[in-house]
Amino acid sequence: MNDLNRDDDGISNPSPNDHLHDLIEREIARNPSRRAMLKSGMALGMFGIFGGAMTACGGGGSSASSPAAGAIGFKGIPISTSDTIVVPEGYTADVMYRWGDPIKASAPAFKGDASETWREQEVQSGDNHDGINFFPFPGTDGNSRGLLAINHEYFNEEYLHNVAGFNKPEVLDNVKKQQAAMGVSVIEVQRNAAGTWQYVQISDYNRRITAYTPMSITGPAAGNDLLKTTADPTGIEVLGTLNNCGAGQTPWGTFITCEENFHEYFGTDNTSFTPNALQSRYGIVAAGSNKWYKSDPRFDLNVNPNEPNRHGWVVEIDPYMPNSKPKKRTALGRFKHENAECVLSSANKAVVYTGCDERNEYLYKFVSTATYTDKASGANILDTGILYVARFDAGTVVGDNQGTGVWLPLVHGQNGLTAENGFANQAEVLIKARQAADRVGATMMDRPEWVAANRTKPGEVFLACTSNNRRGSATPASSNNVNGSTVAGQSRPAIDESNPRAVNEWGHVIRINEMAADHAATTFNWDIFVIAGNPSLTGANTGSSFIDASNTFNCPDGIQVDPAGRLWIQSDGGYSNTGNFVNQGNNQMLVADLATKKITRFMTGPSGCEVTGVCWTPDARTMFINIQHPGEVTGSGGLHPNTPAAVVALTSGSARQAYMNANPTAFSKWPDGATAGRPRAATVVIRKNDGGVIGT
Ligand code: FEO
Ligand code: CA
Ligand code: CA
Repeated sequence: MNDLNRDDDGISNPSPNDHLHDLIEREIARNPSRRAMLKSGMALGMFGIFGGAMTACGGGGSSASSPAAGAIGFKGIPISTSDTIVVPEGYTADVMYRWGDPIKASAPAFKGDASETWREQEVQSGDNHDGINFFPFPGTDGNSRGLLAINHEYFNEEYLHNVAGFNKPEVLDNVKKQQAAMGVSVIEVQRNAAGTWQYVQISDYNRRITAYTPMSITGPAAGNDLLKTTADPTGIEVLGTLNNCGAGQTPWGTFITCEENFHEYFGTDNTSFTPNALQSRYGIVAAGSNKWYKSDPRFDLNVNPNEPNRHGWVVEIDPYMPNSKPKKRTALGRFKHENAECVLSSANKAVVYTGCDERNEYLYKFVSTATYTDKASGANILDTGILYVARFDAGTVVGDNQGTGVWLPLVHGQNGLTAENGFANQAEVLIKARQAADRVGATMMDRPEWVAANRTKPGEVFLACTSNNRRGSATPASSNNVNGSTVAGQSRPAIDESNPRAVNEWGHVIRINEMAADHAATTFNWDIFVIAGNPSLTGANTGSSFIDASNTFNCPDGIQVDPAGRLWIQSDGGYSNTGNFVNQGNNQMLVADLATKKITRFMTGPSGCEVTGVCWTPDARTMFINIQHPGEVTGSGGLHPNTPAAVVALTSGSARQAYMNANPTAFSKWPDGATAGRPRAATVVIRKNDGGVIGT
């Protein structure tokens, strides 16, 4: 096989079950007293080993340890503009797994000068960590040992390459390094006697999945003509996963990773190329922002017009099976998936909530046909079911920030999803999910980011709407065309009940309660849990009444509800600390008491970063979070107050990026200080010094 077809590990597809057997036998050899439990676990299916332990990081059940009632016991911290992580008194934050850390025996240590080759990058941690889930180690309760699956959403060109490699996509080795820096890590992690956690560099579980790892396409769209390419005339085999943003965890112990802004990696120099309606609806343009096509024809729209259709999916990965082939689950629809929150319905159907993060896009959920009973039943449960999209209605009172809603099925032959309207079959409904949602009349939202289920209250989920500067800003207003012809992000709707702010710079969080507390329901009630805002400003900028100087933030993005029912909110927004973002400081993480709505600031991140992804060990005494893109100077909402004067003086984003490439520690030195050579995205472990539950 050529380079693009090479497996990330060089291992050729052994039986996953054989490998599971090997892993369990190895664990028995290490600890013979666990033989009976491990063998019975194998008989029951892998998940039987863990019992309720999986639930802590989004596993779907409700039997995780439940430390007292979701109360918040720490003293909130002030904002920060410093190049460091700050956590409350009584807590410790340890950096554990940084971009460039080696995960194989053969991997070099991070060099700091970006001289790694792509072959070296593919056995090191990827860049820009995002969604993260914890999987208890086989045969343990998982509180001291486990696997982490971590998304690597994208790369920072200015730090990934040295000066010689910067901005040279015409060199295939540079593009390959970018592709190797994206995707997913699976790593083994352990806690030592002193209470600190490390990743294990040499572990059979360690794995990198990249933008060129072979994977399968499964479900109703597999094999459709729109998914066929010259390299794959079957339409069922694809290389790689792109722009893995948020994620989720299934009750059967797999990681579901989300392809978000996949469109950025496609383009062409062919001057006669014009995107078709489907491509335009997904933001595909000839001048894509990453120029991979310059050296990798797979991403040239003129050469491979169907390759973009093979991305924009939810991908299922089994972290316990290091050689297993990832699967793109087409039944969950194709769009710019933020995360994928998987829960069980009252009748044990698998339900996956997943938002499409772009201005004026939609919230979706998938409900499986089959019933989940054990690990085996989950194997392909995500391949058959109904995909719905949400319509938010005002309810009986207009203007009270609450209402009712309907889940509209995206089923071929229903609600105008017919061949006459451009949907030849169910496969096309799923491949063109945005256009199907246009057709059935879904509600355009203020950029749906993460969805988080409250596992202490069946049927309740939260949706982060991060911001939208294209609402309420045009007369007349415009909606996504019902015929699917709107170019991505180009409508300008009016405000509505669930998106009540014109030019929403700070975002809001919506709470949904499904009818009869059943995640499979087709109707729901909703209310706005919090409108983020800036109390130092006036009018629509102030936000909810309980937002004040102690807890102001903007742009909620990552959200999760912990095992005791606290809502954790992470921000990815303006960090200029001036203008509309004055007194909000660096991006941060806060926590909300769902009973009182009291929101308290828990953590502030380093310069230029986003805080994203959060999970816990089953006992909720260890929290893992990610710091993404520390040192990124080109954030929204203005420059950071500590931006180097030379960067401030430059006017274009590309010039600023070039300056940072030449001076990589001039802005952020997090986490290693100047000696490391450049800032590094990283997984951070947070624990309470007294060993208590995080948040208490
Ligand atoms: Fe990758 Fe919408 O955040
Ligand atoms: Ca209302
Ligand atoms: Ca995000």
